[in-house]
Amino acid sequence: MSSDEPAARAAWLRGELERHNHLYYVLDTPQLSDAEYDELYDQLKRLEQEHPELWTPASPTARVGAPPAEGFRKVEHLTPMGSLDKVTSAEALEKWAEDVRKRLGTGEPVAYVTEPKIDGSAVSLVYEGGLLVRGATRGDGLRGEDVTQNLRTIRAIPLALRLADGEAPPPLVEVRGEVYFPLPAFRRFNERQLAEGKSPAPNPRNAAAGSLRQLDPGVTAERELSIWVYGLGFREGVPVATHAEALRWLREHGFRTNPEAARHCSIGEVAAAVAGWERRRPELGYEIDGVVVKVDAFDQQERLGALHERPRWARAYKWAPDRAQTRLVKIHVRVGRTGALNPWAQLEPVSVGGVTVSQATLHNEEDLNRKDIREGDTVIVQRAGDVIPQVVGPVLPHPVGTVPFRMPERCPLCDIPIVKPEGEVMHRCPNRACPSRGLETLIHWVGAALDIEGVGEQFVRRLWDEGLLRSMPDLYRLRPEQLAALEGYGEVSAAKAIESIERSKAQPFSRVLFGLNIPLVGWVTARALARHLGSIDRLLAASQEELQEVEGVGPDRAEAIVDWFADEENRCLVSELEELGLRFEAGEGERPSGGPLSGSTYVITGTLERRSREQAKAALEALGAKVAEAVSRKTTGVIVGESPGSKLAKAVELGVEILDEAAFERLVGGS
Ligand code: IVH
Repeated sequence: MSSDEPAARAAWLRGELERHNHLYYVLDTPQLSDAEYDELYDQLKRLEQEHPELWTPASPTARVGAPPAEGFRKVEHLTPMGSLDKVTSAEALEKWAEDVRKRLGTGEPVAYVTEPKIDGSAVSLVYEGGLLVRGATRGDGLRGEDVTQNLRTIRAIPLALRLADGEAPPPLVEVRGEVYFPLPAFRRFNERQLAEGKSPAPNPRNAAAGSLRQLDPGVTAERELSIWVYGLGFREGVPVATHAEALRWLREHGFRTNPEAARHCSIGEVAAAVAGWERRRPELGYEIDGVVVKVDAFDQQERLGALHERPRWARAYKWAPDRAQTRLVKIHVRVGRTGALNPWAQLEPVSVGGVTVSQATLHNEEDLNRKDIREGDTVIVQRAGDVIPQVVGPVLPHPVGTVPFRMPERCPLCDIPIVKPEGEVMHRCPNRACPSRGLETLIHWVGAALDIEGVGEQFVRRLWDEGLLRSMPDLYRLRPEQLAALEGYGEVSAAKAIESIERSKAQPFSRVLFGLNIPLVGWVTARALARHLGSIDRLLAASQEELQEVEGVGPDRAEAIVDWFADEENRCLVSELEELGLRFEAGEGERPSGGPLSGSTYVITGTLERRSREQAKAALEALGAKVAEAVSRKTTGVIVGESPGSKLAKAVELGVEILDEAAFERLVGGS
């Protein structure tokens, strides 16, 4: 390799990586697989390690790895970052346009640009000689915080302007945009928060702002933030005369501008575009809180000027908050995996911001009582984009006959008296073995449900006590060295345990469903659900009515299932397990044969209260058991109802296990 080869190779790799980065994060048209990208990236990284002199701050390898900051320096913006006056109706928009025409005074035509008002966190990016040298938050509009290292981790932000062959970069240019959380990334973020026992962010805007202010850029890097760039601040030497041209210049120089920004020649067209954005809002994949309307020509903008840093040449068209009124049918209470009781409202379905809402959170009892929200009230429901709908409050007066809400005194799942620990706002079910809670669920998961070989109750209790295990996903993240470090565990047994945990991922959907420990969903119901619905997505989407079409599912079970899946924590659990590779789709294995009782034989004697003999037989067979008429040494157990016959005496004589009706119900996963 000649001496200039590494330099040429590094330059080529950098160019390629930035090109693919741009294709992926800015244009959303990837051409390389992640693995291919990583391969190039690793080559560059190695080359830069061997030849440190080849490293440049614009290298794709320079996005991550900056050390944590101690705090953020205040920096002055090159030109102030103003704010926007708002309008909330077509009339107000017309009035503004009229004012613009009057102020310009010449009767000249006025063109406008509309673009989404992104609900994120405003930033300024300064490029000197084409290189990103500083990125800052808006702050008070004059001075913001220097968050350059954090912004460099956002792959949609170019570290260097993309220049045409021979093009000289402007000496200094300031780019403005809004950093935001794409909704899928926001969901993933909140799922991780919950999994780590941290509180989820209330909305994507807060989460984006918080992510930008992380002292450790490594944390920001994990957040999967993106940016929509919407304008230029300081722009001397940039050859643009209108906002539309500025957007084009930004796009050509590597920035992510919204492809649906549009230029209009009349305010009527602007109003139509605003309505279009409102319609599309639920499907955008990011949150917007309105549409920004800007006068296009810079010379007109300059003549119009600003008042208190609020430009006269732009308005934010904001929609009234997404609110609606409906009747609160019932207040339900669900118990989270931590035992906390969360009240939620079942609503008469109502359309809020284009989405039909039939459930809303009520936070906690204190909030509920303060607002005096009652069953039977007409309530105001609010939805902020992707965030779960909320009940804002009742429309007074309360209808006659309604009463203030009181939390149940006993746990709706296990009937144990509820407690409210000193200083806490949440009521809790103190029962660690409550079906909603962790340890029991885990024991059930490794045993009856997934049947993980060599991993049983003792194993789970031990790891629980060691703090290594709190939920099913933890099980799949255990590392052999963690187990091997435990007293009494060798490397061999640790490896074996990990191996059988890994193998359990191949267990069929019905077992996974059974393992989730959904109240009233025993093995039989789980299997019927898996067969009937076929996938978790369909199960999640099913209404109570649809669920009742499944064999053995009545109104109570249907309600329990819907309740369970309505719980954010439970949905997070499901998606985490899905990500870890557990099966959430019915497969070949979901046939009647097999099942946890296969190989066993039961005999029924006497009359059962809850099921006919036929039904009891069917339940056992569904679990894979055989049902025989006569008791023998091969009989696994005898189920004894009212007025048993001689079969009971025979069972006692042979020492065969005897199950009363309650034990039988537990066996088949009834209640
Ligand atoms: S233009 C003089 N365009 O809205 C201010 N702002 O209230 C010109 N924002 O702080 C701003 N999307 O954070 C503009 N397409 C867009 C925007 C946008 C979101 C935010 C920005 C700014 C606030 C103004």
